[in-house]
Amino acid sequence: MTLQYDDAKTQGDIIVRPSTDADSTAMIAIYTRYVTHGLHGVAFEPMQADDIKRRRKNMLKHRLPHLVAELHGMVIGYAYAVPFRKRPAYRYCVKNSIYVHESYLRSGVGRKLLPALIEACAGAGYRQMIAYVDSENAASLSLHEACGFRRVACLEGVGFRFGRWTDSVMLQRALGEGATTPPTGYAAAGLRRIGDISMESD
Ligand SMILES: CC(C)(COP(=O)(O)OP(=O)(O)OC[C@H]1O[C@@H](n2cnc3c(N)ncnc32)[C@H](O)[C@@H]1OP(=O)(O)O)[C@@H](O)C(=O)NCCC(=O)NCCS
Repeated sequence: MTLQYDDAKTQGDIIVRPSTDADSTAMIAIYTRYVTHGLHGVAFEPMQADDIKRRRKNMLKHRLPHLVAELHGMVIGYAYAVPFRKRPAYRYCVKNSIYVHESYLRSGVGRKLLPALIEACAGAGYRQMIAYVDSENAASLSLHEACGFRRVACLEGVGFRFGRWTDSVMLQRALGEGATTPPTGYAAAGLRRIGDISMESD
């Protein structure tokens, strides 16, 4: 069954659930549409067919959420989190990505998916979430701000895509107790754990 944009609005019932390998084709199709056509002047980079499968496996290994939004059995969006940086000190911080099927834009899918991702990451013990958003991507900037992110930096000219330099806005949101308490399970009695090493460099 092919659903139209209005169906999503009027019939609601969007389910958010963990993705499976069987969702890979639908997720690749959602992403590829943006590579081919861009969105509001924002261009997206191509992805290899195996990227999503590899990423999903990697996320599961790290116990990070990889979610899809489904409407009447059809995948209409997906969102996932990856480690912010590889160094152990940053192990409580994740970066997010979110993509919604072009036919279902502005029908509340992002508003359902992103909070679910935030909740799943907070539940898994992560304390901060970062998003890098192209400065011209008004939809993503608004969605993140609507979900509690604040802009913390504008990284100027960090991207070069399709013949021009692009800026990235960095947004941040605390998860759970954020930086107000030590991570769960942290022994406060002066024990140095992996990641407390001070002289790290990338
Ligand atoms: C960004 C994106 C995920 C938003 O998803 P969505 O399902 O369309 O968003 P929603 O319908 O849930 O809208 C939630 C809020 O986001 C904001 N928003 C969504 N689309 C917007 C647009 N075109 N312009 C301005 N704000 C927008 C609004 O604040 C909106 O709330 P409102 O409808 O009550 O005003 C979607 O546009 C998308 O997939 N874009 C292409 C991929 C992409 O850019 N991903 C992010 C990479 S950083």
